[in-house]
Amino acid sequence: MATLVKHGTLITASETFEADILIDGETISVIGKDLQCPGAQVIDAAGSFITPGGVDPHTHFDLPMFGTVSSDDHYTGHKAAAFGGTTTVMDFVVHETHGFKYSVDRWMEKAQKAAVDYSFHMNLTRFDERVAKEVPALAGMGITTLKVFTAYNGRLRLDDGEIFRALRIARDNGMLLMAHCENGDVIEALVAEALAAGHVSPEWHARTRPAAGAVEATLRLAAMSEQADAPVYIVHMNAGGEADMLQYMRARGVKVMGETCPHYLFFTVDHLRRPDGAKWVCSPPMRTEKDNMRLWEGLRSGTLQTIGTDHCPFFFDGTQPILYEGKTIAIPGKELGKDDFSKIPNGLPAVGDRLPILWTYGVRAGKISANQFVALTATNPAKIFGLYPRKGALLPGSDADLVVWDAEKRVKYGVAHSQHRTDYNLFEGWDVVGMPEKVFLRGKMIVDGNEWKGAPGQGQFLKRGAGEVL
Ligand code: URP
Ligand code: ZN
Ligand code: ZN
Repeated sequence: MATLVKHGTLITASETFEADILIDGETISVIGKDLQCPGAQVIDAAGSFITPGGVDPHTHFDLPMFGTVSSDDHYTGHKAAAFGGTTTVMDFVVHETHGFKYSVDRWMEKAQKAAVDYSFHMNLTRFDERVAKEVPALAGMGITTLKVFTAYNGRLRLDDGEIFRALRIARDNGMLLMAHCENGDVIEALVAEALAAGHVSPEWHARTRPAAGAVEATLRLAAMSEQADAPVYIVHMNAGGEADMLQYMRARGVKVMGETCPHYLFFTVDHLRRPDGAKWVCSPPMRTEKDNMRLWEGLRSGTLQTIGTDHCPFFFDGTQPILYEGKTIAIPGKELGKDDFSKIPNGLPAVGDRLPILWTYGVRAGKISANQFVALTATNPAKIFGLYPRKGALLPGSDADLVVWDAEKRVKYGVAHSQHRTDYNLFEGWDVVGMPEKVFLRGKMIVDGNEWKGAPGQGQFLKRGAGEVL
């Protein structure tokens, strides 16, 4: 049956206008004024904003780490995403020794229970001739992105020569390299020194991963991108100096793009000094208010192109069960590092928070416009990662992934409200004005107010082609 969404205010990356949307099957068929469609289900969206479903380019569901696993899987995390207005997620595949095909098959199995549409990035955490030969086949699988790390020595890191070669191979196969930028050698030295001196509290997680290392590594990756003549996308940008480096290199015509995350816009190292500071432990760490402000500026000016979440949740106290969908569950979490900051699982819950928090504290607070909000959280990620205009757009022919917002809804946000499968929320007690009310995935309403109408297995794997350099 067709669905006609009437009288909404549509917000896209470039304009805001009133119109009706006719959904036929899984896609948008017409956008216009006073549309009629006898027999269609009609939804009155008068007074509501309508945005494209959010596209989160950075999640980690069911990720093994430090002897535990991130607490949202490819169903619970997707459901939380949907309640927060996100209908497409991109998750990182762990690079197994058995090769890319084996690794991707394993991630595909985990994602059988997907509840929103999804695609994968491939972690590139080991590099030799055999791995180099495997890369072209990845593009054939619809995975056109590789993530490299300049930190996590002996585990995930590649050296600069390997990264340079990977950039060229990615370029030759129409793929994009994504980079986690910190200085692994400096971190190793500082962590060893801190622990030897008896510094074990969460604050030391940030103190041993200095901003200068992130800034230097970002410039290094941008310089390698210039030398390889290959684009690069810097993930989870956290330091103001990284935005400075991007601005400088982009002005020189280097094809470097950047993503930040909500936590780097709102929190600082002070949060790690709290008694519950482990909640804020992720890598790279929180910085300062000055860094927050510079990142906002980078988003406004177009130096940074996306806001992802790096959603990688752990319980704060994984010894205490929570109730999830009527069943108790406890998963070891941040308490694993109560005597040693270097053992705290790295990562935060965020996938469902991204749009509501950025709407209130970004758009309503006057930091970004409503159109920039859509660009940063849906349209740009879809363009960069080869999903546009199927995703990230309100256009005839696009997937009917829509968020109908109750623009005036006021909630005291927090763990009782967000749908993540964990025991805390970073935005606990924040006043939020405007929430996703109805969420459509390919024409099907999967969220209706507080009601979950979605199901495991309804999410589709999205094969991606080459994206755009923005
Ligand atoms: O702390 C984080 N960000 N955990 C996920 C892994 C990563 O580097 O993105
Ligand atoms: Zn990373
Ligand atoms: Zn990540």
